Amino acid sequence: MAAKVHITTFGCQMNKLDSELVAGELLGDGFELAGLADAADVVVFNTCSVRQHAENRVLTCLGRLAKQKAQRPGLVAALVGCMAQRQGAELLLQFPALDIVCGPGELHRLSGLIKKVRAGASQQLAVTERLRARREVPAGLEELDVSRRTAKGSCKAQAYVRVMRGCDKFCSYCVVPSVRGREISRPLEHVVDEVRRLVEAGCIEITLLGQTVNSYCYSGDSREVSFAELLRKVGAIAALERLRFVTSYPIGFSEDIFRAMAEVPAVCNYLHLPAQSGSGRILAAMNRPYTVRQYLALIEQGRAIVPDLSLAGDFIVGFPGESEQDFEETVRLVRAVGYKNCFIFKYSPRPGTAAAKRLKDDVPAEVKRRRNNELLAVQEEISRELHRAFIGQTVEVLVEGPSKSARKGRADRRHQLTGRTRGDHIVVFDASGKADELTGKLVHVKIVDTSALTLFGELVAPA
Ligand code: SAH
Ligand code: SF4
Ligand code: F3S
Repeated sequence: MAAKVHITTFGCQMNKLDSELVAGELLGDGFELAGLADAADVVVFNTCSVRQHAENRVLTCLGRLAKQKAQRPGLVAALVGCMAQRQGAELLLQFPALDIVCGPGELHRLSGLIKKVRAGASQQLAVTERLRARREVPAGLEELDVSRRTAKGSCKAQAYVRVMRGCDKFCSYCVVPSVRGREISRPLEHVVDEVRRLVEAGCIEITLLGQTVNSYCYSGDSREVSFAELLRKVGAIAALERLRFVTSYPIGFSEDIFRAMAEVPAVCNYLHLPAQSGSGRILAAMNRPYTVRQYLALIEQGRAIVPDLSLAGDFIVGFPGESEQDFEETVRLVRAVGYKNCFIFKYSPRPGTAAAKRLKDDVPAEVKRRRNNELLAVQEEISRELHRAFIGQTVEVLVEGPSKSARKGRADRRHQLTGRTRGDHIVVFDASGKADELTGKLVHVKIVDTSALTLFGELVAPA
């Protein structure tokens, strides 16, 4: 009987994609996928190191592992992803119940390592040595993306496609450059090919992924391909309805990219452009090399070129040295931009980063918490206001599935579906018994009510 594998994924979209590719590879290698971890012969944790909280969630799972292995002899446990690269052999020492530790740059080896352990081998370590010195991607790793399973009918309506790996920006607080390596752009033809195959298999929305996706720059035969050109090439693929990209970096976001967003019909009017802080002093300490004024000028340029540009942001509160005044400047920036939504994080010192080495984590936990809540409240007020303007409008929605957040006063959640507009607004609507048939489709919904997080509407007709 084929061994069953269960993968638990933590962290960003990059990790979600990695898990999907690994799952595909394992299926091709004769494994089966288990819906529940309890039913699995192999459990894989694909981990994130970006904040201590993310690591703590994984550590809780690892804490339970010894007991689970005692109850189920033969169970194989693998920890993969960013935590694996960051802590490597230490994890194997600290958690004897772990069989495999495998970094994100070695995932093409995972299937082989699992087989080895199942055949009786002891603990296996696969992390990338001298990661930052690597200027090329191992062929096997690129092959994971290139050989992704796109059998007809096997694909969902939405898919992530990687355009680059790594990050060279070295924000002082961030662990990503040290666990994901240098920025390396994938060949244009690999990306275009992958999207084409996904679209042929039924995908209608593609999200291009990179830690700083607009830094995409591929040196092909004698010339460089920019991100704007990539958007135009991918956007030209027939039957691709929606093209998105995350995450953008405020430096190197050229006017060409905004033009491509405005001119290529498939490209969505959505931009996730983290600012991280509204204080120039803190931005400098974060090693984010732009001023608040430059950031606002970029947003203004985008709004002038891309109709109805919808913006999302990331902010860190409680960065070392952040005063009340610095925080007020962040609040001012959030108000000035008018984001659709913001992801707000409390600063978490990461071992090995410049900030953790040089700056004291001097903002007390309760101050971080208060600033976090205050900023959330400000954003909520803005989102509420922006959402209200949708009442009476009909929007195009790509249906994702059953909704978890029902509209107030509607007890029956079973018939509610959720999806997103082109601007990434979340929409919930009554599907009146058509839930299965509409999932993965584009529909038109008339907005009748709104909250800070959601637009609520009524189905008009399939688009
Ligand atoms: N490459 C992306 C996302 C990186 S991680 C980008 O640069 O936008 C996602 C978010 O986590 C970051 O935007 C940042 O807001 C937050 N983050 C990263 N490191 C952090 C840390 N040490 N503490 C708190 N938040 C952090
Ligand atoms: Fe981290 Fe900065 Fe790179 Fe984003 S741009 S991954 S925050 S170093
Ligand atoms: Fe986390 Fe790694 Fe993504 S640290 S945010 S999973 S790149």
